[in-house]
Amino acid sequence: MKYYLAPLEGITDHIYRRTYHKLFEPMDKYFIPFLTPNENGKLSKRQRQDVLPENNEGMYAVPQILTNKTEEFLSAEAYLGSLGYEEINLNLGCPSRCVVSKGRGAGFLADPDGLRRFLDEIFEKSNIRISIKSRIGVRDVEEFGALLDLYNQYPLEELILHPRTGKEFYKGSPHREVYRYAMKESRHPLCYNGDLFTKEQYEDWEKKFPQSDAVMLGRGILGDPLLLSKIKQNHRPAHTWMELQYELYLAYQKEIQEERHVLSRLKEFWTYRALVHREEREMIQKIYRTNTLKEYAELLHFE
Ligand SMILES: Cc1cc2nc3c(=O)[nH]c(=O)nc-3n(C[C@H](O)[C@H](O)[C@H](O)COP(=O)(O)O)c2cc1C
Repeated sequence: MKYYLAPLEGITDHIYRRTYHKLFEPMDKYFIPFLTPNENGKLSKRQRQDVLPENNEGMYAVPQILTNKTEEFLSAEAYLGSLGYEEINLNLGCPSRCVVSKGRGAGFLADPDGLRRFLDEIFEKSNIRISIKSRIGVRDVEEFGALLDLYNQYPLEELILHPRTGKEFYKGSPHREVYRYAMKESRHPLCYNGDLFTKEQYEDWEKKFPQSDAVMLGRGILGDPLLLSKIKQNHRPAHTWMELQYELYLAYQKEIQEERHVLSRLKEFWTYRALVHREEREMIQKIYRTNTLKEYAELLHFE
């Protein structure tokens, strides 16, 4: 089984990825949150920073592109290729309303003809391996059969499935029966993604899908950075949640000028902690209520 870090825009940036990689069980791949190039392939300053090779040293990083325009995809691909990337990922999963309403992310799944033309062109012209991260439809699970038939027509590096529709956001449970169908019918190596927050949940999933090639972990790793070493039963001495928070506290202050932005970044990690450590909710509420970095550091005994 291969293990990947999920891309979470605004959270798993190069600072988080590097810090995680330094302290915890390394991932086989680190997916970089979505990039939104303009038609010349140009990325924002923040996005360029995130893909800089020196910010991703020693890791197999995969940049992800969010677009429905071939020229944007291909020019970003050329830029990423010039930086040395060998694989890029296409985002066909983002369910956020403002992305979907522009026909991107999961919204692109609502336009099968447009998607076919897009895939025809990028697979014909691209020089880099392309993987896809996809929802199983935009509104209805019944869309998935036709979608998989379409994906099966291209030489994907791999297909990463988050088995919910775009409309479902993160509600309810992932449709594992749809993933099972994909395991039977997909021509591509498959990666499962969705709602694996504990070792027990992972083991239950693995028992049901032992032939899966890879699994991608997102919120589970954010809430418990030791999750992968627990899954692999790796008993080497490991770092702790608090050590991770301390390193992030130092690193974000170096990277971000404004104190309130640093603080809101740091607080966000505790939201994921609360998902897997309900018993810490009271403490986490206190962290949310801090107004300055000094208060934050005092509460956590950092200084
Ligand atoms: C705040 C947030 C930001 C996300 N950003 C991205 C993104 O940039 N690209 C992407 O493909 N998925 C994105 N996702 C989806 C995650 O990669 C992943 O598919 C989702 O969290 C489900 O996996 P999990 O249950 O292991 O967390 C995002 C999810 C969240 C909650």
